[in-house]
Parts: sequence; C-alpha cells; structure tokens
Amino acid sequence: MKYPKEYLDEIKTRLKVSSVVSKTVKLKKRGKEFVGLSPFKTEKTPSFTVNDEKEFYHCFSTSEHGNIFDFVMKTQNLRFGEAVKMLSNLAGMQPYTFSKQDQERENKWKLYKSICNNFSEFYKNELFKNEKSIKAKNYLKKRGLSGLEVKNFNIGFVTEDLDYYEKLNKDFDEEIIKDTGLFYFDENKKKYISRFRNRIIFPINNISGNIIAFGGRIIDDNKNLAKYINSPETPFFKKGSNLYNLDKARKLSNKFDEVYLVEGYMDVIGLSKNGIENTVANLGTALTSKQIQNLNQFYNHIIICFDGDQSGYKAALRAAENIIEELKPDKKISFLLLENNFDPDNFVNKLGKNNFLDFSKQNSIPIHKFILEHYLKQTNDSPSSKAIFEKKLREIAFNIKDNYVKKYTLEYFLEHISELTPNINSNYSKNFKQTVKSLAKTKNYYNETKSLKSYEIKEFSFLYIILNKPELIYQNFHLINNVKLYSNENKQLYNEILNQSENLSNLNIEKLKVDKHLIDRVINYASIKHLVSKYSNDNDKILEIFSEVIQDLKGYELEQRILDLESKFSKDLSEDTFNELKALKKLQKIN
Ligand code: UTP
Ligand code: MN
Repeated sequence: MKYPKEYLDEIKTRLKVSSVVSKTVKLKKRGKEFVGLSPFKTEKTPSFTVNDEKEFYHCFSTSEHGNIFDFVMKTQNLRFGEAVKMLSNLAGMQPYTFSKQDQERENKWKLYKSICNNFSEFYKNELFKNEKSIKAKNYLKKRGLSGLEVKNFNIGFVTEDLDYYEKLNKDFDEEIIKDTGLFYFDENKKKYISRFRNRIIFPINNISGNIIAFGGRIIDDNKNLAKYINSPETPFFKKGSNLYNLDKARKLSNKFDEVYLVEGYMDVIGLSKNGIENTVANLGTALTSKQIQNLNQFYNHIIICFDGDQSGYKAALRAAENIIEELKPDKKISFLLLENNFDPDNFVNKLGKNNFLDFSKQNSIPIHKFILEHYLKQTNDSPSSKAIFEKKLREIAFNIKDNYVKKYTLEYFLEHISELTPNINSNYSKNFKQTVKSLAKTKNYYNETKSLKSYEIKEFSFLYIILNKPELIYQNFHLINNVKLYSNENKQLYNEILNQSENLSNLNIEKLKVDKHLIDRVINYASIKHLVSKYSNDNDKILEIFSEVIQDLKGYELEQRILDLESKFSKDLSEDTFNELKALKKLQKIN
C-alpha cells in the first residue's frame, strides 16, 4: 500500500525536523541550523546538523542524511509504514486508511488493542493489590525476578475467580472480546470463562510493541495442568510469524550482529536480566521460515539456543531442517547446544553473562554442520543406514532456495557422504575428480559474477542484444539515444560497435577491433541471454526487453547523479545543490 504524496507532505509540514530529532538527540541552535552529537556514531564533537527550512538532517561523520521518515526509520529501526504511523500520530493527524476493508480492520484493531491493554492493566494491578497474589509474588521472587523485570516485561497475575468478562462486556461487544482469545465459551454453564486463571501472565507484543496475546504460567506444580498456556491464534496474533520480545530486541540491531533465539518466556527474561537483551523466543512452537525472515530484517546472524534436554534438542533439529531452506549468502544461522538439562535461563543465572557469551562463541555451530553431525551420529555401518544418511542429506540440501547456498551445502554434505565409500572413491577417482573440478568452475563463475557491479551486468544485456540483433536495433535507433555506459570496458566495446558499423546497419562482430575478451564477457554474463534466444523470432518482444534494459540503465545513471550530488551537498550544503538533488529524487520516484 502506497501513501499519497499529499499525506506525507502534510506530515512533513506539520513536523519540524528539529522537533522530531530532538526527541532523541540534544540539539543546539547555530545560525539557521541545529547541531548535535551524531546518533549514528559515538563522537565527542558534534557533526550532526538539522535544517528545518530544508526539511532534512545531515551527519558529517557518517554521511547519513534524510528527512524525518528516514530519521525515525534509521534510529528506531522502523519500517516505512510504521514511521508514517508514528509521525502522523505525532503530528496530530488521523492515521491514513486505505479502503473500507482496511478501515474495518483498523477499527477492529483499535478495539482489540484496547482490550489487550485493559487486561494488561488489570493483571498488573491484581499482582500488586490483590492479597491473593502473595503466592505469585513469592514465586516471582523465587525465580529471581525483581520489580524491574516485572515492570519491563509487564508481568502480572490473575487469580482464580474473576468476572472479568462481564466487566469488559460493559464497554466492548461480545464479538470483539471473543476475537482476543481471552475467553472461551462454556457450553454447560452457558457463559464465557477466562482462559487464564490462577496464572502469572506474560504479554506477547507485536513487532511495534503493542500487546496482542498472552501466556500464563502456573505457580504450583500440578501435573493435571499445562505449565504454560498461550492465547490461541487470533486475527492479530499469528503464531508462525510472531516472535516474543522482537519489538525490543530489534532496537539493538545497531549494536549487535547476532540475536539469540530461545524457547521460552523465562529464557528471554533471564538473558535480558543478565544484560543479553538481543534475545527473542518462539514460545515452544515449531520455528517457521517466516519467523526467520522477520528476524533477518534486523539481524544477519541468528543463534538458536534451545533447552539442553531431549525435547530441546529435538526441537532444534526440527527447526534446523525447517529453516535451512531460507539460508541466504549474507545470512548466518547457528546452533548453540546446552548440556546437562540447562536452559538459557538457568545457565545465565548460574554462570553469568560472560560465561554464557564465551560458551556461545566457542560452541555455536553453523546450521549445516549441526544437521550433518546429527545424521552422522544416527548412521551405523549397515548399507541401508548409510543410504538413509545420503538420501536425507541430499534432500535437505535440495530444498534450499538460494542456488549458491544450495550448491555449497550439497558440496559440504557430499564430501562427508563420499567418506563412507572410500573404495568407490579410489576406483573411480577419475570420475570423482571431474565433479570436483566442475564445482571449482562454478565457484569461479560465482566469484567472478560477485565481483561484477550490478550496472555492468545490465550493460552486458544491453550490448548482448545489440550484438545479436543489430538490424533490429538499427531500425529502432532512437531507443539508444542518450544511453550512457559506465564501465570502461563496455564503453570501449560500445564505441567500437558504433564506429565500425554505420549506426549498426552493417555490424560485423568478427571485425571489431577490441580485445575478444570484452565480447566474451558480454556473451557469458548477459543475464537476458535465455530470453533473447527464447523470443529470437519475436521482434516486438525483443524490443520490449531491450527497452526495459535501457530503462534500468537510465535508472542507474540517475542514481549515480544523485550520489554525486549528495557527496557534493555534504561538502557545500548549498541551497542550489539541495534543490537539484530534490528534483532528481523526485524524478527517481516517478521512474
Ligand atoms: P519450558 O518448559 O522450557 O519453559 O517451555 P521455560 O520458558 O523454561 O519456563 P520455566 O523456566 O519452566 O518457567 C518453553 C516454552 O514453551 C511454551 C512456553 O512458551 C514456554 O516458555 N510452553 C511450555 C507452552 O506453551 N506450554 C507448556 O505447557 C510448556
Ligand atoms: Mn525451558
């Protein structure tokens, strides 16, 4: 959903940059501007400036700059939509609503939220005021939780007998109360019964910090009761995509590369209490790819640390197999296995923060190694057991979505699979070498493409079409007016193509006076190669593809001009440069 420009502009006019910024950065007026210490870097002398007139901020030491939306997105790790919501609220405007359905959902969400908040106030109050809560207070103390954790995590207690439904029903309709999952309907008694009774309550927040669900723990051991119960799925609480404490943990992603993913409420609270706050929990549910994607928006390295008992190990293995398919080249997933029935909570409480972090540094193993070692342990000397080992590992590797990660994970597995057949390896060593060689070749290809710039690859596509369809492009010569290439090699080839032929009418590739290597590069790396051959008889389609490539190249040119201007601007801070910059950015948005 896209916000209309007028709405965004109105927020900008209502909010001065300095008033938004000064909520987190101390600013001093200096001439037309404000200065302060950069929020993007620790520094002693201020290099951060804010200009209300020009509606932007600029940090000289990190070159970060932007408008109020950029500022709150960067400093508070919000997504654009969230930044808009937060700032429109600050500006005293109505939240933007998109359609009738959105409007209805928005209204429902407001009521849902206020019931959750109402319940939260209720159980916090119960913990402090209700004399029946004394046992709960003692329990929390026994678990080592001080008032600080109780407050930070909004923990409370509900007693056995509550007529809370009736209380709520005075202000809210049955329908929306039902939606929150706080009650279930007892068919015998014909009334709504509180799901959470006689339990410590832990609220579960969504990514923006609103309470959307709850968990409740018993305080007396009782085999007939579940230790924890949680809210059911509701219209606003989806177990497979939510993570406990992500709303707080994401704010620390500027400070840490890694995040700990643990099983339970108490693990998050225990680690946080000991100063490890970059921690989230999946609350004992099966870990999903969606949760990994959400977490990866903030953290590149996820360390999964479940309980050191059998069920924790099983859950870790299941998680590994579920999520390895999501692994991306720039992301990392590791497993930290605890022993002796430790869970992160009692480990860190007993041994302290530094021991936990040291243990983590020394014992975290990457996901592919964890999986391999597990199956290796399962495998005995029988042929069928080894066959299962190979089949299972191949299957896991084949499910990985990213082709490069897939290839190298498979390669890693195959190396160990081949160790199970030492005789075959020596008899067929020739064959084996061949596969290794081809993998080495792909590796080269991968490294080479990695070193290519994205615009270079686009230029290859541009030149590839010209080399393959010179006649067609000759007839549509206007298309290539004003196309600018950036890489020197490609420029050289392009100029030679234009020089040697008369506007492409009689191009002869053999006669081009350039290093053959330049042409090979185009042929090897042009990503639209297969499209051109697929549509080789369809001129309209080829022209359409060609136009798209040109559009891309022009987009890149614009981006370059903007980058140049931005660096000029960071030096001269002149009005003219700024206006030019603004115009180009506008153009970029239209494109
Ligand atoms: P644990 O049994 O490991 O709980 O379950 P814990 O967090 O370590 O809590 P304490 O230390 O015993 O108080 C891990 C998570 O699995 C979910 C809860 O979210 C719990 O935090 N769970 C566990 C349930 O949903 N129901 C249960 O009966 C047990
Ligand atoms: Mn546990």
